[in-house]
Amino acid sequence: MTASKIADVFEIRALSMADAAARLHEQVVGVIQAAHRRSDGSVSERFLPLALFDQVYDGVYSTIRDRARFLVALSGGEVIGVGGYKPAWCSGHGWELAYGAVRPEWQRRGVGMALLRARLDAIASAGTAGDFIVARSSRPSTFIRLGFRQVSPSDPLLLMGTVGMPAEVRQFVPARASA
Ligand SMILES: CC(C)(COP(=O)(O)OP(=O)(O)OC[C@H]1O[C@@H](n2cnc3c(N)ncnc32)[C@H](O)[C@@H]1OP(=O)(O)O)[C@@H](O)C(=O)NCCC(=O)NCCS
Repeated sequence: MTASKIADVFEIRALSMADAAARLHEQVVGVIQAAHRRSDGSVSERFLPLALFDQVYDGVYSTIRDRARFLVALSGGEVIGVGGYKPAWCSGHGWELAYGAVRPEWQRRGVGMALLRARLDAIASAGTAGDFIVARSSRPSTFIRLGFRQVSPSDPLLLMGTVGMPAEVRQFVPARASA
């Protein structure tokens, strides 16, 4: 499927209070759970419904600045993918990515990458140039392609990027430039 064809079949936007009527919050929780379910059917405590509902409702209804925010990918009014981001707990100059998930039957069709790019754009709009963005991913190569770097020899899955560099530029920065 070409990129333009994919763009025709889903849209990405922020999850908002208005989505409560369509019960999209429940779908968000369902997508995260479905994507993170282990082969034996279990999910980690972090992805149990109550923990996720706390995060999602807090993200939409809380007035706290440091709440998580969620972007959703929608097709035919249904949530097919989710991506979360929030101001970092450890510093006023940082952001975290979390809760990236695509419904299993929609995976490998560009939804996850579109959500990742949309989150980086949202952070660039909300943040300040030079802010750091931290992520931990079992697929570090995806982030490295977007200009992130591995930051710890003991944890190659821990990745850090910077706000304010467009994706096209980020991809071509030589490794020594940020040293
Ligand atoms: C990881 C995941 C979100 C990717 O979604 P997807 O729609 O299949 O992704 P795309 O079709 O856009 O994939 C394009 C590439 O970007 C990667 N990618 C996309 N979104 C990603 C994300 N949020 N984190 C890491 N890699 C991602 C894919 O792995 C793929 O890499 P490859 O070509 O080197 O194999 C999805 O497979 C998923 O939900 N997996 C289970 C949950 C999970 O592992 N989440 C990771 C964040 S905690």
